[in-house]
This record gives sequence, C-alpha cells and structure tokens, in this order.
Amino acid sequence: MTDEINSVVVVGAGQAGCQVIDSLRQSGYEGEIHLVGEEPWLPYQRPPLSKKFLSGEIPAARLSLRPEAFYEKHKVQRHLGVRATALDAAQQELSLSNGKVLNYDRLALCTGGRVLKLPVPGAELEGVHYLRNIADVDAIKKDLDLARNIVIVGAGFIGLETAAVLAGMGKCEDGCTVTVVEMQERVMSRAVSPQISDFFEKLHTQHKVKIVMRRGVTELVGSNGRITAAELSSGERIPADLCIAGIGISPDISLAAQSGLECKNGIVVDEYAITSDPKIVAAGDCTIHPNPLLDQRLRLESVHNAIEQAKTAAASMLGERKAYAQYPWFWSDQYHVKLQMVGISQGSDTIVTRGDVEQRQFSLFYFKGDKLIAVDSINRPADHMQARRILNNQIKITPVQAGDLSIELKEII
Ligand code: APR
Repeated sequence: MTDEINSVVVVGAGQAGCQVIDSLRQSGYEGEIHLVGEEPWLPYQRPPLSKKFLSGEIPAARLSLRPEAFYEKHKVQRHLGVRATALDAAQQELSLSNGKVLNYDRLALCTGGRVLKLPVPGAELEGVHYLRNIADVDAIKKDLDLARNIVIVGAGFIGLETAAVLAGMGKCEDGCTVTVVEMQERVMSRAVSPQISDFFEKLHTQHKVKIVMRRGVTELVGSNGRITAAELSSGERIPADLCIAGIGISPDISLAAQSGLECKNGIVVDEYAITSDPKIVAAGDCTIHPNPLLDQRLRLESVHNAIEQAKTAAASMLGERKAYAQYPWFWSDQYHVKLQMVGISQGSDTIVTRGDVEQRQFSLFYFKGDKLIAVDSINRPADHMQARRILNNQIKITPVQAGDLSIELKEII
C-alpha cells in the first residue's frame, strides 16, 4: 500500500471510524477524508447508552467522541444520515443512499454491528424496544414513566446494565417489576466465567430484579397494538407494558460481503486490519482478526478493540505496518459495581481469588497450566491496570503471588 493516497473514505461513524480519522491526521495525512454514517449524529460513545444516558445523568451532547470543531479543523467531509449502499471494489467506488458516489484510494469499513431483533410474534408491538443507539434510548425513555412491569430479554451486558439502571430508578418498588429473561444457564455467559455470572445474578436479585433463567420469550402479547405480556418457553406469561431486548448483535458485513471481500462471522482481516482487498481496511465490531498473543481468531465487541484496531488500520492505509496484538479488555458498570475484564478466561484450569468477595472488591486470576490467561476485577481497578501490563508484557506471575495481597502486583511488574 504505498501508491499515492489522496482520498480516504470511512464507512461507519462509530468509535472505530472516529479513531481512523484521528490517527490518519495525527500521522500527517493531508488528503481528503469522507465519513459516511447512517445515523444523523457525529460519532458518539455507545457504552453510556445503557448506563448514564439511560438514567438521564448525562445528555446526548456529552456522548460525542469529538466536538464538531474537530471535524472542521481536520477537513472531514461528513455524510451523516446517509447509508453506504454499494461497494465496487474493482472501480474503488462507494455508492450512497443519497445518490452520491465517492471514489477512494483507500477505504475503511467500520460498520460495527446490527442489533438482533426478537424472532417472535408480537415483536412489532408498541412498547417493544432495542438498545443500540441514541434514538433507541430516547424511545425507551418516553415509555419509561408509565411502565410498571418491564421485561428485559437477554441477560448480557445490555440487559443487565439496563436492569441496574431501572432498579436504581425505583422500577422494582411499589408494585413495579423488572424481570430479565435469559435462555442460557447463567447471566453474561458469552463473556464471563461462571463465578462472575453467579456474583452478578446475586447482585441483581438483591436489588429486587427478577432473573428467569433457561427460558426464552416465545411471544409478545398485546392489546390495541401495545404490549401487555411476554409469554415464555415454559408457558408462563409475565405482565409487561415495556419490553427491552438485548439479545446481541451481528457484525454488519453486508457491504463487504456484497463486494466480494472475504467474510465469515465478520469481515476477515489480517493483523494489520487489511481485508482481502489491499486497498480496504476494516476495524471494530465488524471484523474477525487474528490475535498473535492469544493465537486465535477473534471477533470482539469492545471500545478497546475499536480504538486499537482502528489505529492499526489507519497506519496500514498509509503504508506502515503496526500489527494489532493486545490482550482484549472490556468493562461493565452495574449498580456500584465496576467489572473490568482482560483476556479470555475460557479454557482456564485454575482460578485464584485476590481480595474480598463479600466486600465486593476482588479479582479472579485465570491460569491455564502455569500461564495467566485472563483477570476479571470487581471494584479493583488497580488490579485491572496491572493485569493488563502483566498480560501484554507476558510477565510471569504464579497463582500464589496472584492470591497474596501482601505482594503488590506492581512489584511483580
Ligand atoms: N431469549 C432470552 N435470551 C436470549 C435470547 C432469547 N430469545 N436470545 C439471546 N439471548 C441472550 C443470550 O443468551 C445472551 O446472554 O441474550 C444475551 C445477549 O448478550 P450479549 O451477547 O452480551 O449481547 P447484548 O447484551 O445485547 O450486547 C450487545 O452491546 O454493550 C454491547 O458489549 C455489548 O457488544 C455487546 C453488544
């Protein structure tokens, strides 16, 4: 990728798209940059949507990743509220829903994920919502005042963070109910260990959120076009005047797949974020990429992945090679508990606890053989930061050291 580059098009105005632009300008690239985004807003942070934005603690204006002045200063041509509809990789042309066609020297696909819709009768009823963007949360907020019985489908990050906010708003008091319906055996099973699932299930139960496990929603029942109940696979019916589904996302590979780029469960890229077309990079939730530290291919849904892979993608567009090789990390805030995770704990054979579970201040260190592979921290942010350094620098730590509070982790580093 060393030919002259005068025009870069970035598809997707999210965390990764924003970072690609930032990194290109920081590297001294002075050519044209086009940003195409389906939503009407400039790139914004999604994590607060199910936390402080839902609770009303922060307004939409505080979600923006960069102010408007940033895009002005860096001469970014914005195409917002516009969808990229077709990609002709041979001609290096991108067609937009407003009829425009953009030519590119390099293209960055930062298309993220599409929220999964409930595949059940009644999903179109009023009062049934998803939580992926600002408009979704605005719509939920309109229904919240009158809601007395709320059903949340899916005990993943979205479902549980939402439940925590609603409990905090008093939606589990005075005859109101918040019920989370989860089809798996435990909460957040995609991302956390059974020990962490167990901790969070208890935490929610203590806050009067009802958690119904091993059941799916088979139908949403309504009257006059509005939801009144959710029917579960057990046959049980739960009254509901508001339903929020957080049942996951699927990577948005539509443009990439249509143009013939290699896709699996994500747009296939190498460690330099380059797709099967050397003029096209991809970053964020939409990619499936190799992680040399973990020796596996991953598709990650996280802010960290979006930012770091976008930096690599921007470098690749300019002809530099910076392999993306880091331990993935994630976080979730529920009630006054901050969960921070680094690495992938699946496959561990020894788990060591550091700190005090009862006090809700502990970390779990996951070992496979004598190798540390992941650390989950509950209200111990310093452990999380040190664990990232230990893992990324492949520093040796033993289970005894991990569990001994008299040994400071920073001493080991
Ligand atoms: N009924 C009940 N539960 C279901 C159903 C269903 N029909 N379908 C899926 N689920 C459950 C899954 O078992 C899983 O526990 O929904 C949960 C979805 O969890 P996640 O995959 O974590 O997805 P979600 O919480 O929607 O988050 C989507 O947003 O905040 C980000 O990091 C988060 O990237 C993730 C994305």
